[in-house]
Order: sequence, then C-alpha cells, then structure tokens
Amino acid sequence: MPKAHLTLDPHFTVGPINRRLFGGFVEHLGRHVYDGIYEPGHPEADEEGFRSDVIELVRELGVSTIRYPGGNFVSGFKWEDSVGPKEQRPRRLDLAWHSTETNEVGLHEFASWLRKVDSELMLAVNLGTRGTAEALDLLEYSNHRGGTALSQQRIANGAEEPFNVRMWCLGNEMDGPWQLGHRSADDYGKIASQTAKAMRQIDRDLELVVCGSSSAQMPTFGEWERVVLHHTYEDVDYISCHAYYEERGGDMASFLASSVNMDHFIDTVVATADHVKAVKRSAKTINISFDEWNVWYIDRWQERAKEFSRDDWPVAPRLLEDVYSVADAVVFGSLMISLLKHADRVTSASLAQLVNVIAPIMTEPGGPAWRQTTFFPFALTSQLARGTVLTPRLDSDTYETKEYGVVPLVDAVATHDEEAGESAVFLVNRSQDAATTVTLDVAALGAVAVTSAHTLSDDDIHAKNTLEEPERVGLVENGTVTLDGSTVTVTLPPVSWTAIGLERR
Ligand code: AHR
Repeated sequence: MPKAHLTLDPHFTVGPINRRLFGGFVEHLGRHVYDGIYEPGHPEADEEGFRSDVIELVRELGVSTIRYPGGNFVSGFKWEDSVGPKEQRPRRLDLAWHSTETNEVGLHEFASWLRKVDSELMLAVNLGTRGTAEALDLLEYSNHRGGTALSQQRIANGAEEPFNVRMWCLGNEMDGPWQLGHRSADDYGKIASQTAKAMRQIDRDLELVVCGSSSAQMPTFGEWERVVLHHTYEDVDYISCHAYYEERGGDMASFLASSVNMDHFIDTVVATADHVKAVKRSAKTINISFDEWNVWYIDRWQERAKEFSRDDWPVAPRLLEDVYSVADAVVFGSLMISLLKHADRVTSASLAQLVNVIAPIMTEPGGPAWRQTTFFPFALTSQLARGTVLTPRLDSDTYETKEYGVVPLVDAVATHDEEAGESAVFLVNRSQDAATTVTLDVAALGAVAVTSAHTLSDDDIHAKNTLEEPERVGLVENGTVTLDGSTVTVTLPPVSWTAIGLERR
C-alpha cells in the first residue's frame, strides 16, 4: 500500500489563517442572483424575496467575505442603476454574459442578504467602461456617513448607516481581451494607481486589490504583474490571482495534481511582487487576493457560448451550471490545501462562485436547494482550519503525470489553534487505484485525542449530486483512524479528501 508521513509541529508555522481565505464570490451571471439567491415567488422566499433555504446553506458553508457584483459583469456595470426605487431601475444589456440585467437586486439588497448570511462585502469597481470618478462616487455613496449628495441619496434609499466596505477590487481581469475596456498593463497600471490614490483621499485605510493576470496561461502572465505593480506598488495592498482547473483529454492523473500548479502559480506571483518590492526599495509587502478559484469546465462553456443567439438577451439564463463529481471535489479540496499552505501571502480568497454558477450550492426555481460535492471540503475546511498553518513537513510516495511530472501521491496541510488546543489535518489521496496509509507524527502537540475524521470518496469517482439524487454523495466518517502514542494512522481511499480534527487532552 502506498504511504505518506506528515509531522505536525506548532513551533514551525507558515502564518496565521485569515478568515478571508474562506471568501466567496457572487456575480450577476446566469441564475446566480435571480432564481438563485433571490426568487420572490418561491415558497422559501423571505419578505425581501431571498430564499431562506439558500441562506441556510450559505451559512452552513461558512463563507467570510463575498466579492460582488463581478467578474466580467462589473466591467459594464453602472452602480447607479442598482439603487433607488426598484420600479424605477433600468433594465440593461449585460454584454459580458449576453443577458438582460433587471437591477431588481442591487447594492442595498445585496448588503441586506450579506447580513443574513453573516458575510462581509467586498466590492469591485468598474474600470472597464468607467473610471476614477465613478469609483469615487460609489465609495462615497457606500461609505460616507452623510451630509453629501451621494451619502444622503444612500440614506434616502433606506441605509442610514454606511455600508463601510473595507475591501475593493480595482476592476476585473483587465488583461483579458474578452473584458470590456481591456487595457495594456501600462494603461491599466496608470488608471489603477490614479483610482487607488483618489479612493484613499476619501479613506486611507481601505484595502485595495489590483488586477493580476486572469490566469497563469495568459501570454502576458508575469510581465503583467511586474508592470502593474510597478505603477501601483505603494497604492494597493493586494494583487489578484485567478485560476480554474478542469480535467482535459481524459487525463485524470494530471487533473488530480492541479494544486501543484496552483502552488507554483502562487509562488511565481509572490516572487514577482517581491521583485518589484526590491526594485522600489519598499518596506511594504504586497499580498495575494486569490479572488477567483475553482474547478470549472471552461472548454465546455466556450463550446456552448458559440451557440448563443445574438438576438436573444434572456434574464437569468442557465449558464456555467457545472455539476461536480467526487473527483472534482477532491481536486477542489486540494486547492484549499494549496491556499492554506500559502497563508502567509494569500490572505484573502474568493471561491468562484456560490450559487448555481460553478457553485457548491444548486437550486431549482420553485424547487429545492442542494449541496454539490464541492460543498463538503469547503464547509469542513472553513469550520476546522483555525489559528495558524503549520509548515508542511510531508514525505509522500509519488506518481508520474503528463502535465506536472512526478508529484506526491498525498497532498496535506495541518492547522493549529494554540488557544483552543485544537488542530486539524487536511489530506488528499491522488491515487486512482490504491488506498494510501498516512501516519501523522503528533508528538510535538503533546497528548491529543482524535475528535473527528471525515472522508469524501466514492467507488464511482464520477458520482454527483443532482436534482434527482441530491444526497448521492456526502461525507462519511473515516473509521480507519487510530491513535497509538503520538502517531495517528489513517487510510485514505483512492481519489479522496479527508479532514481530521484533533484536540489537546
Ligand atoms: O467566474 C466566472 C468568470 O471567470 C468571471 O466573470 C471572470 O472574472 C472570470 O473570467
């Protein structure tokens, strides 16, 4: 049986876990907002039209900060359309997703929904078709306490208290030719710097995210980060990373090793940011906001997009409704491991997205809401990963992949909360044919007890949760865990994700 060994030692840490690592993303896209979180006619709808069954699931998922309202959508968005009396709000063409935006849900409604799901708002400004002036207007409207035209307008629209949004994205994926207002790194860097400086004249403590590359596969990747940070280094706090993974050409072995790529991606962006820091002799460190990450079958979506009729501008069409398998959820779990392993520099992340659109939660209009396979690793990691991330000291058997060469069979990370006396270990077995035994050396933690051990796996790695069978896949207790002295032993089934909770005795 293949094997791996992990040592947990609280004296060696990567860094503290920022709760913002467990963020989400809600874009006005497909059935995410309309017929997703908002469905006034639904039996579960509350007085504002939000589905309470969805609210319950989002709370269970444990999402911290939520990025809004896009995504590609934001690059054509006029925020003013989405405030004020609903009946007066204009319907607009959404060029990004070839849809009609009704603006029934806007800033005030979304802020109210966030209170219900207990999450923090992270706003993106439109630097595609708009610029600094409109970003300043949105900031003043959202955050200024009162006494100016825009802040009084907010109050008149029902929000006496400012929204007090702390995190702001300066546009979205401005390197992508598909983006409305796509620019060169130089042009974007200049407008981002100008906008950031101006926003700080209203509130110097804002946390600002400048756009990194839309993926590490972009021809401009690396150079984009360098040039953009050259212009904005002292103006911003974060640079964004976006990454989506999918199984391509039946190469499951490489797909299961996607987090190797994510690790490398993060290390590369950190190196680039630190290069600019050195050149500028700056005392400041730029961190990463990994504000779009997931498994997404983009190739399938691009095929489908070709079929769209140019004359049809539907409201809330079914777009990007990927149905996730066990294998997808295992990869997803390993992406969370990668984010945790870089907790010193990745201090904010947003799972893209939340409901119906490449999402852990699915809904049917007038029907139920259910958990996709990816729901489980997110919810349990968000619940158990507390305190600090321990330096990964992992020794694992390996296997060969076409994309990434020789990679470890097991991926793992451990977290430790000294005050609560609790630790957690997250593990992935990438083997497709063998169970793998993992030993955990917990001697440095002192005397501990195993409090929980849950695994996501299935004899059919393509099994999914669907409308017809919403509970086909779930977490099961891993009954193989033993504690002998200071060694925990666990067997991981092939293609599986596992979380183990430990407590000081
Ligand atoms: O999450 C879906 C889309 O992916 C977002 O709108 C965009 O930013 C990215 O390309």
